[in-house]
Formats: sequence, structure tokens, C-alpha cells
Amino acid sequence: MIYLDHNATTPIRPEVRTAMLPFFDESFGNPSSPHTVGRRVADAVDGSRAQVADALGVATDTIHFTSGGTEADNWALKGVLDAHWLKHRSHGRLVTSSTEHHAVLDTANTLARHGVTVAYQPVDENGIVDVQALMETVAASPAPQLVSLLHANNETGVLQPVAQLGAALRERGVLFHVDAVQSLGKVDLQELAQVVDLMSISAHKINGPKGTGALYIRPGVEIEPLLHGGGQEQGRRPGTLHAAGIVGFGAAVEAATHDGLASMARLGELRDRLQDGLSDLVGDVVVHGGNVDRLAQTLSVSFVGVEAEAVLLGLDQVGIAAASGSACTSDSPEPSHVLLAMGVEPRVASSAVRFSLGWGNDEAQIDQILEMLPPLIARLREMSVF
Ligand SMILES: Cc1ncc(COP(=O)(O)O)c(C=O)c1O
Repeated sequence: MIYLDHNATTPIRPEVRTAMLPFFDESFGNPSSPHTVGRRVADAVDGSRAQVADALGVATDTIHFTSGGTEADNWALKGVLDAHWLKHRSHGRLVTSSTEHHAVLDTANTLARHGVTVAYQPVDENGIVDVQALMETVAASPAPQLVSLLHANNETGVLQPVAQLGAALRERGVLFHVDAVQSLGKVDLQELAQVVDLMSISAHKINGPKGTGALYIRPGVEIEPLLHGGGQEQGRRPGTLHAAGIVGFGAAVEAATHDGLASMARLGELRDRLQDGLSDLVGDVVVHGGNVDRLAQTLSVSFVGVEAEAVLLGLDQVGIAAASGSACTSDSPEPSHVLLAMGVEPRVASSAVRFSLGWGNDEAQIDQILEMLPPLIARLREMSVF
């Protein structure tokens, strides 16, 4: 199998699996228990928290483990606006963009139903939010507000100017949440972490386990819990900790910050080889976000005139895994909201395929795709009534 769907999820690295195994076995204790079996697990959780904090260059007690990126995003938005409501009995305001992941977009829509004013900032044809326009949107309202923005887009890999925005928003005293689920392990986040108030990350995008993530919360940020129960995570995120997952997250972050970041140049060359090859050999292709800063391992490309689903089926039949739009929405036949927001025609957006490379990919695999994809597209174009 050739796996080119790493933005959906990644395989677990052997060293991550090895680190996790004892926590399904002899180290099964509850990290909140004061006995030896519990304390041993609590020590391991603390170690992972330090590994995640080091990767972001932040203090250890600012990292709060969650069940993944979705929970971290929900918590950041709902928690900050709920804290505002409880303190001031007034709904705050949320500014976000039209190309967010659904974990933010659907949370924003829910908050809007509960009375929060939500502004969706548009993007340009490259998928980028205009910093000045966003700052004008912020300035247009006196209401205390939260800005939430995706760092690297999961569909196109396009990177938003979050560092620049973070500095400008801090100057105005506006809280800033960044969804860095796709950029962790692919881009160094240490500088960015200094100018944001909240940041969501997830283990399974960096060769760690599914069901584990974290929310960075800058000291002093007022945020209510999303869940209610025990006193775990400084009383902010109750629930018995998923120790095996957290230990795996620590090991995955460690591997990603050493070898993962270094491998991005190699993956960038492979991605460019694929992009150039497809442009030369297939013809009538549109690369989305190709002219701006984007993740080195992501390629979103439309094969104009064919449905993406037909391409994916053809690829799957020969053992190649790729995606159309984001995996979380692939049940839906609607063209990607990200591409539509970039002004891509619905017909072209419906033919977009996402190839996302990772740790196990090599040149021979890319060449194999370049050999089999052009005849597949030609065949589909001949048959197409689309
Ligand atoms: C940008 C982004 N944010 C959030 C999520 C959700 O993360 P998780 O799968 O850990 O819940 C994803 C997953 O695809 C994502 O790509």
C-alpha cells in the first residue's frame, strides 16, 4: 500500500508503540491514585507533559491533555466565551475564518445559536486571511472577543500569517486561539506559542495515537471547563487520564521535533516531484494554494473534468490511499468549503484530491503514482459526463 493520507491520520511509530505498551499492562494504575502503581503512571504523564511543553517552548503546567484536537478546539472557544458570560453576563464575540476545520466552524455555529456574535473572515484566492482586514473586523466592535484561526489548513496545507496576527492581537489585548493540529511536527511552533493565548494540538497527526491531544492555555487566560467531574488537569479537564495515549503523545512529539521537522525538506522535494509530474503528465490540473507558504508535505490538486471520488476509487483499487477534501467530511458529497471560500468553481472543487505525505513515503512510491495516475485520469475523462 502507498499511504498518502497523512493529514487524515498517521501510522504509529515503533518507538511510540514501545513507549505505550507498558501502560496497557503492568503500568495500568490511575495516575490520580496515591499508591505506587498510580504514582508510576502519574510520573510518566508528567514526563509526557514536559515533552509536549518543550516542543512548544512553554511552561509544563500550560499543557492540558484532551481527547484530541476536536475537544481542544471546542474547549478553547466554548470555554473562553463561557468564562466571559459568567463574569459579565454578556455574550462575547468570536472572529474566525471561512476555511476553518469543522471542529472550529461547527463550534462557532453552535455558539452563534447561543447568542455569541460570530464574524467569519474571508480568505483570498490562495486561502489566506488578510491581517489588516481581520484587525479592522476586530476594531469594528467594542465587545471583548476571541479570534480563532487555523495555522495550517488540513486540505491545502496553506499557512495563515498567525505569528503576525498574534503580535497585533496581543497589542490590542484580544485573545487568540490557534488550531495547530496540522502544523505540529511539520513547522516549528516555538515562536508562535509566544504570541498566542490558546493552541490546539493532536497526537495522531504526528505518528502518535488517536484520541489524545492537548490545549495550551497561557497563564492568566480565563477559561471554563468543557466537562465537569474530577479534579484532573488542575481541575480544568476532568476524567481519568488516558495514560497510554498521553505517553504515546510525548514519544511522538519527541520524535517529530527531532526527526519529523528535519524530514520536511525531503517530503517537500517528494511533494514537488508529484506536483510537477502531475502537471506535466496529466494536463488541465489546478494546484490549490501552490503560490503561497504551505505545508511541505501537502498537495491539493484538481483533475478538472473528473469527480475526485472516482479518482480515489481508482487509486484505492491499486493500493494507493489519498483523500478528497478533509477526511472528516468525506461522507458528504458537497465540494470542500475551503476551496469554495477560495473562490474555486464548484466543478473544479469537486475534482480536488489531497495527497499528504509522511514519514514512510519515498521517491519510488511517487514515481509509481506518476506512472499509474495519468492513464487513470485519461480513462475517467473519456467516460466523464461531469
Ligand atoms: C486542522 C484540524 N483541526 C482539528 C482536527 C481534529 O483533531 P482530532 O482528530 O484529534 O479530533 C483535525 C483533524 O483532522 C484537523 O485537521
